[in-house]
Amino acid sequence: MKNEEILKKLRDAKDYVSGQELCEYYGVSRTAIWKAIKQLEKDGYVIEAQNNKGYRLVEENDSHIFSKVEIESHLDTQWVGRKLVFHKETGSTNLDAKALAEQGEAAGALVVADMQTAGRGRRGRDWVSPSGKDIYMTLMLRPQCRPEKASALTLVMALAVLEAINELIPEGCGIKWPNDIVINNKKVCGILTEMSAELDGIHYVVIGVGINVNQTTFAEELRDRATSLYLESGMEINRSRLVARVMHHFDKDYALFEKTWDLSGLIDHYNRFLVNRDREVRVLDPQGEYDGIARGINEKGELLVERGSDGQTVQVYAGEVSVRGVYGYAV
Ligand code: BTN
Repeated sequence: MKNEEILKKLRDAKDYVSGQELCEYYGVSRTAIWKAIKQLEKDGYVIEAQNNKGYRLVEENDSHIFSKVEIESHLDTQWVGRKLVFHKETGSTNLDAKALAEQGEAAGALVVADMQTAGRGRRGRDWVSPSGKDIYMTLMLRPQCRPEKASALTLVMALAVLEAINELIPEGCGIKWPNDIVINNKKVCGILTEMSAELDGIHYVVIGVGINVNQTTFAEELRDRATSLYLESGMEINRSRLVARVMHHFDKDYALFEKTWDLSGLIDHYNRFLVNRDREVRVLDPQGEYDGIARGINEKGELLVERGSDGQTVQVYAGEVSVRGVYGYAV
């Protein structure tokens, strides 16, 4: 018996469920049920217990509950996220996911944390990760493709996050190539993908996702570039449900990716959400910066940029360069 099953039973009943009924249903002792109820209360659920009636889940405002049980109660995937590790506090979920991979854990394992003490961003930056507000999670995969194909997985995750956010905020959100999610030209999500591989095969890939969900303020230096779902929508968002929705979309998008080990099945979908599409961009290439018009991605996830100086279409690879909007962070 899992705690999430008891939660579901209490939710469905909408009234008291007797301890006896729960014991018989799950074939466990009263003590086991009592322990599960105590754990649910610890997670933040309010459960009334009455001597001759049993247990009742009090009308919930569950948007603040961020826990393994709550995430699992929303999860509808086949394999993605089915092994779920939840930490109240950890160093970095990317490091945790790598450790799981090294221990031989199967693909699809997901590590989620309420807080990180050593959150890491791209290009060696820190990812500030306070508790109670945001999502920090890392998915571990073992794709059966050549290592050079794996970088496209970052774009698959970006698409999945976008689709999940889009369900909550249908206007104004998009992808800034390759993998930042932006709303009204400000970043709400960053993704850090890391891989362990040999020349001809991948041991594992970890895809770390940080989403600014219910944050209400940002440090002065970030304010013009960063935002949160709360600041953009005015709604407090249920982080557990959002994690499950990202996994739902990733499950479906990965199935398409896996068919060809590239983005051919997802290009149109991705390009539809690409905020840089048909816009002027500045390509920050270490060999020399240039401006051009972004036309969308190809099946490898490269950005096709029509260079202003000679009209040639350049395939920009994310590893080498970054791209900015000419007027702001994204566009
Ligand atoms: C970026 O710089 O845009 C990428 C940020 C990635 C942050 C996430 S939070 C969860 C996971 N754990 C980390 O230490 N980093 C990633």
